[in-house]
Amino acid sequence: MSVTHTLEADVLRRQDPELADILLGESDRQATTLQLVAAENFTSPAVLAALGSPLANKYAEGYPGARYHGGCEMVDVAERLAVERAKALFGAEHANVQSHSGSSAVLAAYAALLRPGDTVLALGLPYGGHLTHGSPANFSGRWFDFVGYGVDAETGLIDYDQVRTLARNHRPKAIVCGSIAYPRHIDYAFFRDIADEVGAYLIADAAHPMGLVAGGAAPNPVPYADVVCATTHKVLRGPRGGMILCGSDLAERIDRAVFPFTQGGAQMHTIAAKAVAFGEAATPAFAAYAHQVVANARMLAAGLAAEGLVVTTGGTDTHLITADPAPLGVDGRDARGRLAAAGMVLDCCALPHGDARGLRLGTAAVTTQGMGEGEMAWLAALLAGVLRGETESQKAREEVRELAGRFPPYPG
Ligand SMILES: Cc1ncc(COP(=O)(O)O)c(C=O)c1O
Repeated sequence: MSVTHTLEADVLRRQDPELADILLGESDRQATTLQLVAAENFTSPAVLAALGSPLANKYAEGYPGARYHGGCEMVDVAERLAVERAKALFGAEHANVQSHSGSSAVLAAYAALLRPGDTVLALGLPYGGHLTHGSPANFSGRWFDFVGYGVDAETGLIDYDQVRTLARNHRPKAIVCGSIAYPRHIDYAFFRDIADEVGAYLIADAAHPMGLVAGGAAPNPVPYADVVCATTHKVLRGPRGGMILCGSDLAERIDRAVFPFTQGGAQMHTIAAKAVAFGEAATPAFAAYAHQVVANARMLAAGLAAEGLVVTTGGTDTHLITADPAPLGVDGRDARGRLAAAGMVLDCCALPHGDARGLRLGTAAVTTQGMGEGEMAWLAALLAGVLRGETESQKAREEVRELAGRFPPYPG
């Protein structure tokens, strides 16, 4: 546990021992199990320090230089810094860093570009579309007319021919590319082309790969999409939150769609933490990290395939892997439970073929801990041993604890 953690825990323990126990319990859980949830990572102590700073006290509706509250001199500087760093990092003309989450960013992008009832083409939910890509349980499915494209059942790759056909037939107002589970790079040039052909906006929901983009380990959607939405957590390793990038032509519409249309006061502690994370992501060390994340994911995917799991698309270009454990005699839901008992924490996900649930894993967090390809090969074997019933979960749990102990997320 880091010094910062210990001090915070001491303050909390004195004032609220009940909550302090929860905080310490969660720190212990994170440090003694393996975080393979593809959307998670360990932020730096500097990001945590900004999150826990007095900027959390400040109300700041509006934008730098045009706030509805007094006393915004310092937070204005923080927000301008976050915006400038985001623009430089991703080569964007405009950045809005106020979105409270990835979903809020997508909501604002739709609000800026669409009217209720408009048609939107996006990856269907069974193939890895996010809830904000037309789920009936989400505002998006209620307010817009979503048409879903899919992936090829055999290869698991986006069916670009189908995208073209659906775009020509439905003439959507916007096309969304981006996914919660697609392990391959997205062909942004293709999406730009078809969006131009049918007169649609192109929205890239790059929540997952944006950290890889920052580190030069994945293609950048910014030159292609009208609007790019992303989270600042996941591989990017910042605080939980969202951001929107776009050209100068859409800047005012995007800003107004975030505030006042869909949000109130900006969360200045989170915006400061985003600035810290963007600064970290611009370093050579982060580029090396992003490339190691991908190398680790490739090794883990190859290891899982060698153990008999069916890895979707046969591998990965990113931090993310989806796999069907059925050949080992277990479905995704059971597998997740067994692996959790063994200290390997990951998600279930839909698979491109059939109704069975698969597993979704990511290497962002374990790579931040310093693990490399050797550990990934070991992990694939342990994971498969647990699923086959060859390794008892208690024994695996001890091995995981030992490995995690050698790679503490917050050394010191
Ligand atoms: C593609 C995509 N869009 C949007 C989101 C939503 O982000 P949040 O959970 O911060 O609302 C996610 C989160 O995983 C995502 O993967």
